[in-house]
Amino acid sequence: MVIYNLKDNINLDDIKQAADFIKSGKLVIFPTETVYGIGADGLNSDAINDIFKAKGRKNDNPLILHVSSIDMVYRIAKNINEIELKLMNKFFPGPLTIIFDKKECVPYEATGGLDTVGIRMPSNIIANKLIEYSDTPIAAPSANVSGKPSGTNISDIIDELGNKVSCIIDGGDTKIGVESTVVRVIDNKIHILRPGYVTKEMLEEYGEVIIDKHILGDIEENDKVLSPGMKYKHYAPNTKCVMVYSKDNNKLISKIKELETFNTLVICNELNKNNYKKCISYGITLEDIAHNIFKILREVDNYNVDLVIIEGVEKEGLGLAIMNRLIRACSHNYIEIK
Ligand code: TXA
Ligand code: MG
Repeated sequence: MVIYNLKDNINLDDIKQAADFIKSGKLVIFPTETVYGIGADGLNSDAINDIFKAKGRKNDNPLILHVSSIDMVYRIAKNINEIELKLMNKFFPGPLTIIFDKKECVPYEATGGLDTVGIRMPSNIIANKLIEYSDTPIAAPSANVSGKPSGTNISDIIDELGNKVSCIIDGGDTKIGVESTVVRVIDNKIHILRPGYVTKEMLEEYGEVIIDKHILGDIEENDKVLSPGMKYKHYAPNTKCVMVYSKDNNKLISKIKELETFNTLVICNELNKNNYKKCISYGITLEDIAHNIFKILREVDNYNVDLVIIEGVEKEGLGLAIMNRLIRACSHNYIEIK
């Protein structure tokens, strides 16, 4: 396995070498602006199967195909409508994944057997160049073993997946920290299947936006879901976690103090830190929290506590994406104080 260190300067020759691995059907871990991806040639079924094996991912959970140009979108998607075009014009490159009807060249291994394909054009330059030099869409789920928090830096990823890939490109900490917003346009309405950095408010300019009911709710055994990823357990540490939320910060703090025993860990806003016995701060703004949350969720098991208590945030803007991840990390253990 080779590691290219492009944290401080981007060496295009290294990215070309990494692209050679992709072209020969091998796996490459690379940075995007959201989280790291574990990538392979998205049109090569064998290479795609290796991604599923490396992550221990269920085969019916489809992968996003990453492109470096609009031309590449047209190579793999069909029936592109006006709203989708407008969304691409506005948000590509960037943290938005759009679900399109797939063309025949896209193997069913990549789409979990579906006739649709999720497509995203990352804005991270390393990712963009890697795709361009590979001259093929790169299938890439988040770089983590299935069920674990997504990888946002190489030190978190290397133990978990380092021996499963041919090459790792280290581009430093990812900028955003939560995965892309996933949308599907149905009957001119934009359905958010996974919230992310591109918010409901940003999408509203392009049509009516519907937030899928499964985003914050629990999923029943036989529920029909628009995105297979919704069904699977995600982001959960081994330690039991509970989330507490209140619009009223004083009520929030007093509820958490009530739950605190000598062996709990609180994950909280920097501004509330002094109220708790043992805590880790996730920052102040929603941007800070998005950036830090997966790294923190990976750390909590090291504290050997009986319970992790997490402060929830308002489900507005980027807060919806953060709450979607936290609620899953807490396996829907959620207390709201009115
Ligand atoms: O930011 C991101 O999106 C990162 C980076 C690496 O690009 N990727 C990522 O991939 O988060 P992954 O595989 O961890 O999550 C993709 C999600 C899954 O929940 C999957 O079910 C959904 O997108 N998805 C992919 N293709 C789909 C399709 N054709 N229809 C419905 N949902 C789809
Ligand atoms: Mg993932």
